[in-house]
Amino acid sequence: MSEPISYLQHWDRTEPFDPPTVLTELLTSQPLARMVYPDGHVGWLATNQELAREVLSSHAFSHNFHTAHVPLTKRGEVFPSVPIVPGGFIHMDPPEHTRYRNILSSEFSIRRMEAFAPQVARMVTGQLAALREKGSPVDLLPTYVRPLSAQVLCDVIGIPLEDSATMIALTDTTNDESLGLEEEREATTKAFFYVLDLVGKARTAPGDNIIGRLAAIPELTDREITNMLVIVFAAGFASCEAALGMSLLALLHHRDQLAAFRAAVEAGDEAPIEELLRYTTVNQYQIFRTALTDVQLGGELIREGDTVTVALPAANRDPARFACPERLDLENDASGHLAFGYGVHACVGQRLARLVLTEALSQLLLALPGLALDVPLAEVPVRLRTSVLGLKRLPVRF
Ligand code: HEM
Repeated sequence: MSEPISYLQHWDRTEPFDPPTVLTELLTSQPLARMVYPDGHVGWLATNQELAREVLSSHAFSHNFHTAHVPLTKRGEVFPSVPIVPGGFIHMDPPEHTRYRNILSSEFSIRRMEAFAPQVARMVTGQLAALREKGSPVDLLPTYVRPLSAQVLCDVIGIPLEDSATMIALTDTTNDESLGLEEEREATTKAFFYVLDLVGKARTAPGDNIIGRLAAIPELTDREITNMLVIVFAAGFASCEAALGMSLLALLHHRDQLAAFRAAVEAGDEAPIEELLRYTTVNQYQIFRTALTDVQLGGELIREGDTVTVALPAANRDPARFACPERLDLENDASGHLAFGYGVHACVGQRLARLVLTEALSQLLLALPGLALDVPLAEVPVRLRTSVLGLKRLPVRF
């Protein structure tokens, strides 16, 4: 086996659409490679579909970050140990995780999302009207992508939209490469106390939203509900904004695919968003699991305590699974992509995410036939090194 690669090396994306070259090379040459984590631990990096699925669905691997050798900061520093908070299900394993996960899964069920769909469509129509009023040229990020993502998340959870800034600040500090752990902690504390107050109010006057329904469950404490909701907002808002922004950028850059997207929607077909999700795979880093026991994986012995990072962007370019994986081609069969992860921690909000992407892309692209990037691709600022890949601005004309 060749020399282990370094953690920062696997984090070296240089352009918006393609994963770092080191990852795509490993995908075909050595899909399970050794990787040195910032604390010196020599763990693993999995880059193909088969290994990604195996790690993410196996009970031999834990998502508990106390056992992981993973720096959780955008700069690759080792994160100081903090206790897992009550309701902090994202870093729990079954059966603890299952209890919270089941409650949230019913909040994003097919039935609930079908009922919520007309509301999403109305929010998109409203935002589109505001955008047209602003006129061209315009930065689509603060005028369309971001406010829509915020409205949808606030509405579904039950957070007053006028207070969304407190919640958005949480993801903004995490995604700002220039800010450190202190600022992130401050933003998390603010968001926590803000939501705690909403939960307290919902205990006596529950609304028809997630806060209201969770507050009606006596077995859940206020702190548990608060932490669950802070996680849902942060995970949902950041990923939704990133996926919508990156999908738009991908379509505006690949004009033939933009035409294909419009043609599909005009023909009344399902909007072809799965290939966009595969191609952009915005949750690019920090997907990891730690072995709870010695376990065989891809012909190697993974020792108890070894951390395995799963590179979703590389796995979504696996030639064994997708035809022409390096190309955006809406005709591609993208089913089975891993943009929403896999296994018990796979995205709980994926039905909502699909709803937002479908409505926001379809309405915008049909309403504005002249929509185009207003600067060359290389001048569109992208956050390349944060765990959620996303745009800083999206200058367009229409
Ligand atoms: C297109 C947009 C989205 C993408 C690409 C995305 C992607 C992902 C991925 C890759 C994971 C797995 C993380 C892991 O295994 O470590 C995940 C988990 C999660 N996502 Fe999403 N997500 C999106 C939208 C949303 C939305 C809209 C919500 C909420 C309304 C949401 C809430 C969550 C939560 C709470 C988890 C953790 C689930 C668990 O640990 O059980 N996401 N998402």
